[in-house]
Parts: sequence; structure tokens; C-alpha cells
Amino acid sequence: MLEEFAEGIWLANGPAVVAAMGFRYPTRMAVIRLPDGGLWIWSPVALDHQLKWKIDNLGPVRFLVAPNHLHHVFLSDWVEAYPEAQVAAAPGLAEKRDDLSVDITLGRTPDPAWADVIQQVRVDGNRITTEVVFFHQPSRTVLVADLLQQLPVGWFRGWRALVARMDGMVGLEPAVPRKFRVAFQDKEAARTAVRRILAWRARAVVVAHGAPVTTDGNALLRRAFAWLDD
Ligand SMILES: [Fe+2]
Repeated sequence: MLEEFAEGIWLANGPAVVAAMGFRYPTRMAVIRLPDGGLWIWSPVALDHQLKWKIDNLGPVRFLVAPNHLHHVFLSDWVEAYPEAQVAAAPGLAEKRDDLSVDITLGRTPDPAWADVIQQVRVDGNRITTEVVFFHQPSRTVLVADLLQQLPVGWFRGWRALVARMDGMVGLEPAVPRKFRVAFQDKEAARTAVRRILAWRARAVVVAHGAPVTTDGNALLRRAFAWLDD
């Protein structure tokens, strides 16, 4: 369930969700403890009693973060459980979910409430979604929701397995799926964002759909985005 990944950051796996065309995705969230003890929760997964009990033992929930407009499915349950928490969402989510009240729209620079320990880069120029990529400085961990994916081999069956392999969703390491690559209308904007992400010199990379990478994160990120320079 909720496990410490490094000092000040925890990960939890959630149950799979079903997306477009019946594709099931494993889910993962991250919890970061801010210097004041409050919790910053990235891409929250389904909330059950056990997870809530563990979260409550870590500290008060201050922020619920939707890193792109696709990761919002469980937000309302979290808002109900933690009404005092602020919702911080990527551009596009407020329009999509007018039932949610978005307190902070994620921009190019981190909110002062978390800027001491978390940096962020907004990856502009993609038709599918505008994702905000985060960096937990103390553990040098980059958080990526959908721009990088690595579903376990054998996760999909039949035609979906074929499509997933062709799309680059299933591979030796997290990669940018082909559908996201072709959706970059503005490659220069993407290159600028990736340069800033690489400047973090990450140790670890946590993706929402795939296994975390714990060493040489920066080398992985460089390989994953090398196609942008083609
Ligand atoms: Fe996703």
C-alpha cells in the first residue's frame, strides 16, 4: 500500500482504472511531506480506509494535485475526505470538471507553498494534455503522470497488447508513448521544458503507470526524450 520511497516521499499503488477503448491502467500516487508537515498528494488513487488511515498518520493533507487533465478520477473522493485541502490542477481540468473547485491552476513556476522542496515544469505544446512534471528536491525524484509510461509485459492481452507494444507503452524502461510524441505540435516548447527537467539531474523517476526508476533517473529522462531532437 503506502510505502516510503525516500525520505519525505511515499508511493501508493491503486487499483487499475479503465480508460479509452477498454485499456486498463495500473495507478500510482505520491505523497510528499512539506517542511511544515503538511502533505502534498500527487495524482491520488482510489481512497480506501487503509490508505486513509496511513495518510492520516503521516500528517494533514494540504494539497491534492492533478498533474494533467486526465488524472482526476478520484479527486472528488479526496475532496470529500479532506475538505480543507486545496486542489491544484493542470490547465484544462477546471473546464473539464466544473463540479470540482480548483484552487490553484498549475503554472510554469511552483506555488510558494511548496517551492522550497518541489520544483515544477509545465510541458506545453501537446494536443492530448498539458502535463506538469514535478521534482522533489530532497530525494531528487521526478514525478511523471502520463508523458512516460511502462506497463508491465503481459499487462494487456490480445489486440490491446499489440497496440500497447506499437505505441511504446510496454518496453524495457519508461518511454514517451507514440500517441504523445505525435501530439507535440510545438516541439520547441517541449524541448525547452525537457531541458529544464534535465537540469534537475534527477536520481529517481516515478511514473503513474509503470515501475519507479531508482538510479540514474537523469540518464533515463535523456533517453526517453531523445526523439525530440530528431
Ligand atoms: Fe494516466
